[in-house]
Amino acid sequence: GMVIGTIAAGGGHHADADYPDPFPDDAEYRDVLAADFSSVTPENYLKWESLRPAEGEYDFEQADAVVAWAQENGIDVRGHALFWHSQNPDWLEDGDYSAEELHAILEDHVRTVVSRYAGCIDQWDVANEIFTGDGRLRTEENIWLRELGPGILDDVFRWAHEEDPGATLFYNDYNAEGINAKTDAYYELAAAQLERGVPVGGFGAQSHLSMQYGFDDSLQANMERFDALGLKTAVTEIDVRGTVGEDGQMSPEDRAGAAERYAQVLDACLAVEGCTSFTVWGTLDEHSWVPGTFPGEGDALIMEGDYERKSSYCTLQRTL
Ligand code: XIL
Repeated sequence: GMVIGTIAAGGGHHADADYPDPFPDDAEYRDVLAADFSSVTPENYLKWESLRPAEGEYDFEQADAVVAWAQENGIDVRGHALFWHSQNPDWLEDGDYSAEELHAILEDHVRTVVSRYAGCIDQWDVANEIFTGDGRLRTEENIWLRELGPGILDDVFRWAHEEDPGATLFYNDYNAEGINAKTDAYYELAAAQLERGVPVGGFGAQSHLSMQYGFDDSLQANMERFDALGLKTAVTEIDVRGTVGEDGQMSPEDRAGAAERYAQVLDACLAVEGCTSFTVWGTLDEHSWVPGTFPGEGDALIMEGDYERKSSYCTLQRTL
């Protein structure tokens, strides 16, 4: 069945820089997660920047805490992300490694991290944001694609699958809701990989939406084509932001529109057989990455203040 998730926030750049870290500092936040959601994604704790203080070293303390807590509470975990151009440590990005060394560093990372959580993490965002909007591989920004070439993607999925054959292995990206040049590129890549036996298992539409833009309602059709390929699909990071006033809120019209958009995306996911999870990128607006990243925008999540439910929360509940 489908799971509804949120992020186990932590370690990021947020609207309120002093917000307490849920693991271990905010028991109330954890209680809300346990009560209202059946899946969590560690927001930053499984990224290279968090896990890899130095070459050859791993720091699993915070990720372990989230996974252990999820196990105790019967909650699924989405792993995010093994292969990305962003939030990599300086020692990696600025290191003067040969292609052979980078290949070994990446293989060690993927095998070490996936095997550690084998059986505990059911879905992994293996490769995150590898295509540009016009459907070209990010061969300049992404260190792995730049130095090792696109063939490395096959290896990464194979290593992950070997370490945890039970996990579903995803591609994940933003502006990947509708049918467009970017999602065409994923579709073609995944089809070609499946053809040669690469264990790609899922396609995730992040769904960072804004009321400033229209919504492409080809989401369901897009998911259906990945479904037809045999991939699971998921809404992995939804938030619906908008221009906010002094009070941090959108106009009443935009708020209502955002609630409707949440419902529309959930409806699309529910209509697709293989859409297995729907994850909101945070619970409380106070924890959201949006105001820090998109100046002037906010009000993007489904709860605010003292865990008061916004209309977007209610719309999701009604849809289910
Ligand atoms: C964001 C986090 O929420 C922030 O705390 C961090 O500062 C930057 O990254 N797409 C992704 C996520 O795949 O990892 C990003 O998360 C949001 C966009």
